[in-house]
Amino acid sequence: MAKIKTTYFCQNCGYHAPKWLGRCPSCGEWNTFVEEVIQKEEPDRGSWRSSTVTKTAPKPKAIHAINFEEQARLRTPDDELNRVLGGGIVPGSLVLIGGEPGIGKSTLMLQIALGLPGQRVLYVSGEESEQQIKMRAERLPVPTSDCFVLTETSTQNIFRTIEHFEPEVLIIDSIQTMQSSMVESGAGSVSQVRECTAELMKFAKESGTPVFMIGHITKEGSLAGPKVLEHMVDTVVTFEGDRHNTYRILRTTKNRFGSTSELGIYEMLGTGLRQVTNPSEILISQREETLSGIAIGSMLEGNRPLMIEIQSLVSIANYGTPQRSSTGYDNKRLQMLLAVLEKRGGFRLGQQDVFLNVAGGLKVEDPAIDLAVCAAIVSSYEDISISPSIAFAAEVGLGGEVRAVNRIDSRISEAEKLGFKQIYISKYNTKGLDLNGYRIGIKPVAKLDEVFQGVLI
Ligand code: TYD
Ligand code: MG
Repeated sequence: MAKIKTTYFCQNCGYHAPKWLGRCPSCGEWNTFVEEVIQKEEPDRGSWRSSTVTKTAPKPKAIHAINFEEQARLRTPDDELNRVLGGGIVPGSLVLIGGEPGIGKSTLMLQIALGLPGQRVLYVSGEESEQQIKMRAERLPVPTSDCFVLTETSTQNIFRTIEHFEPEVLIIDSIQTMQSSMVESGAGSVSQVRECTAELMKFAKESGTPVFMIGHITKEGSLAGPKVLEHMVDTVVTFEGDRHNTYRILRTTKNRFGSTSELGIYEMLGTGLRQVTNPSEILISQREETLSGIAIGSMLEGNRPLMIEIQSLVSIANYGTPQRSSTGYDNKRLQMLLAVLEKRGGFRLGQQDVFLNVAGGLKVEDPAIDLAVCAAIVSSYEDISISPSIAFAAEVGLGGEVRAVNRIDSRISEAEKLGFKQIYISKYNTKGLDLNGYRIGIKPVAKLDEVFQGVLI
C-alpha cells in the first residue's frame, strides 16, 4: 500500500516544511501552516541521461528561427483595465485578479464579460448560483453580449465543457473554490490552488485563450493567498480600496506584457463600477473657502499624471516631544523636508507638531510632490493660504534646492487641463520646454525661498 505523504504548507506564501511551524520562516506570518496530503509518490528518477524518459527528445530552436507575429490584443470597452493590462488582453495570457472579499472583483469581471463585443465569454463561478449571477448582471448597465455562465468547481468538468464550447475568453471565479481530482487536498489549499492554476495555465498557453482568475486575499490566511500563485501567472492585478469608500484602485503588481506601474480607478455605484477617467477631480477636494496648509502637487502613476491635494497641519507641540505624522507619504522623507525647511528656510518647526495627509487615501512615492509638501507645511505654519489655482511639481533636495523631475511636460499639461493658472517647477526642468507654449503660467525656481516669496502673499 502506498504510504500517504503529508506536508505542511504556509497558506500565505506556499513555503512547505515537514513539521508544523508556528511562524513561517519565509514570510514571517504566524499560524499559517496547514497539513496537506500529497498523494503522488516520488517516482524513481534515475539518471537525467536516461534515454527511456523521452525517446524523441525535443529540440531547442534558434531564436531567429522562431516564427512570431504580433498577436493583436483584445481591447475591452473598459479603458482602465486595458491600460492596467498594458494595452488590452493578450491572447493566451493568464491574469490573476486579487483582492479582499467584497471589494468588487466579481462585479468587475462580470462587467467585462458582458461588455466584450462579439466574444464568446465563459464565466465559471464556484461561488454563486446562476440566479445570483443573473441578479448581479441585471444591475449592470452594460449591453448583454455572448456571455455564458457555468457554475462548477471541478476543473476536469470545466475542461470537458470548454472542449465543446470553445470560449474566446475564460473567467474563473474564484481559484480558491476550484478543485482538481489530481490532488487530494481540499479546495483552497496550497497544493489544490497550485494544481488548478497549472491546469489553467496549460489550457491558456495551448489554446491561446486568455484566462482571468479571481483570487481572494484574506488576512487570516485561511485560504491560500494569491501570493503562492504570483510566480505562475503572467499578470497579477490587485483590486484595492476601502470598503467605506466608494473608490477602487486596480493596480498591476506583475506583468509579463506591460508596465507594472499602471493604475485604474473606479467608483462603485449601485449600478456597478464606473470608470473614473479624470481622477484628479476626486483627489482635489472641492472647497469654497481657501484654507491654509493645502497645496496641490503632481504625481505620476505609471504614465498617468495626477494632481493630488496635500494637507498639512502645523501647531505648537504642547505635550513634550513634537509629533511628526504622515498618511500616504513616507515619514522619513517628511522628517527630512522639515529639517531642510528649518535649516535652509529658517522656519522654526522644531517645537511644532506636524501632520501631513495625502487626500484620497493614496500612497505617494513620487518625489515630485516634495515641493507641494513643503508648501503645505509652510502655509500652515504661517497660516497663510495658497491660492487654489497654483500647483507644484518638483523634488526638494537637502540644500533647499528645487530639483528637476521626470515627464514634466505631461505634468504641466495635466495641471493646465484642470484649470490651474500657475505651476511651480524646477529651473533645471525647463530645458527643451516651450515656456510660452502653455496657457498655464510656468514659474521656474531654483531655491525654496523663491517659491515662498511667490505663493505666500
Ligand atoms: P463583489 O463583486 O461580489 O465582490 P468580490 O467578488 O470581490 O467578493 O462585490 C461586492 C460588493 O459590491 C457588495 O458589497 C455590493 C457591492 N455592489 C455595488 O455596490 N453595486 C453593484 O452594482 C454591485 C453588483 C455590487
Ligand atoms: Mg466574488
